[in-house]
Amino acid sequence: MSHSPIHRAGNAPVKVELTEGETYTWCACGRSDNQPWCDGSHQGTGIDPVVFVAERSGSVWLCLCKATGTPPLCDSSHKKPVAKPDSGSV
Ligand code: FES
Repeated sequence: MSHSPIHRAGNAPVKVELTEGETYTWCACGRSDNQPWCDGSHQGTGIDPVVFVAERSGSVWLCLCKATGTPPLCDSSHKKPVAKPDSGSV
């Protein structure tokens, strides 16, 4: 079990349709039950969602692994190996 406040919500991005000018709130903590959108489950984690306005209408791939370097968009970080949990040994 990870001690990180950020949870991996999926192992691949999700394709969503955005509408130009609309405001969206992407879940950055991975705890939302309404992925990829924030449902308020980040409360108390110290992590805030990413609020953005769509620059154009169309489909985009949003990150679910929550490791992207270009939130909320997928940057293929989900393909990188996941660090193994600390075994406690030095
Ligand atoms: S529920 Fe994850 S950032 Fe809000």
